[in-house]
Amino acid sequence: MAVKIIGTGSALPKKVVSNEEMAGLVETSDQWIRERTGIGSRHISTGETVVSLAVEACEKALAHGDRKASEVQLILVATCTPEKGIPCAACQVQGLLGAAEAVAFDLNAACAGFLFALHTAHAYIEAGIYDNALVVGSEVLSKVVDWTDRGTCVLFGDGAGAVLLERSGQPGILGFVQHSDGTKGGVLQCDGRKLENPFVSLPVGNPFLSMDGREVFAFALRQVPACIWEALSQAKLSPEDVDLYVLHQANRRIIEGIAGRMNLEAARFPMNLERTGNMSSASIPVLLDELVREGRLQEGMTLVLSGFGAGLTYGACVLKWQR
Ligand code: UT7
Repeated sequence: MAVKIIGTGSALPKKVVSNEEMAGLVETSDQWIRERTGIGSRHISTGETVVSLAVEACEKALAHGDRKASEVQLILVATCTPEKGIPCAACQVQGLLGAAEAVAFDLNAACAGFLFALHTAHAYIEAGIYDNALVVGSEVLSKVVDWTDRGTCVLFGDGAGAVLLERSGQPGILGFVQHSDGTKGGVLQCDGRKLENPFVSLPVGNPFLSMDGREVFAFALRQVPACIWEALSQAKLSPEDVDLYVLHQANRRIIEGIAGRMNLEAARFPMNLERTGNMSSASIPVLLDELVREGRLQEGMTLVLSGFGAGLTYGACVLKWQR
């Protein structure tokens, strides 16, 4: 499957909120948050939007890949927290970037959103429909977090990450899987607008994020190793063949638990959640961009990306790093 990532970029809001500051808002402590999640601080928007963060991440990915916005053919924005219902965030990003030739649309698969968007862009390129794509994960979760609920508000952060994908002569994506289980949607949800028109007015739901954390925790430990195995077997590789596992940054204990279940040392699972918290669809591309900029990705390395979250949705992708 001949697609490669030729550029990466990310953007985080300026304001950093520490665990100590969170303890001023709800009954919690730095010790509890660090021990149970691994999170130390998170970036929270004081004006940055899903669109402005996505544009900044895309501009950096274009500069990194040495391409102009006018050359981009497809823009996919994965987000579950768009500012507007209409138009979609991707069209706003397209307009602001000046990517006049690009087709643009959003995709919502919550924390697995970036991965699903990557697979979608890959399928378009593989099918010969487009030659390149900007794939973005961008979230301002602080809009939908219940800031009085200590069980969720300490977990999330805002940010965006982008990759520029291009057709390549060599195999890039070696295997991928994606799954959904709509029967478990209630464990992590946030209601939209209520139905109100001249004929009916239904009661308003909960417009804030609510979660059964233990259920999500157990689901991640059960399904993520299984879907990574599935993607690896497609690629005819074993877990030891993988240099780095770039997983959704929900909780350090989840990531270490997955490493343990796969009999792998935690050092193969880089993490940035200590500084970012859980940024849903932005977690994987932001971490990927940081690894690139820290010089930790070398040509020919094998990576696994894996995301999981509301839906429930989950998936994994095995790729050979080549630029
Ligand atoms: O992107 C995917 C989205 N979500 C996730 O991946 C989340 C997955 N789940 C988790 O990460 C964990 O389940 C949490 C971090 C959310 C919670 O950790 P836990 O170890 O499962 O704690 P718990 O829910 O079992 O709660 C243990 C105790 C409770 O008190 P009691 O009932 O034992 O007295 C909670 O009320 O911890 C309490 N608690 C807190 N205490 C201090 C819950 N949140 C906090 C808090 N500070 N922020």
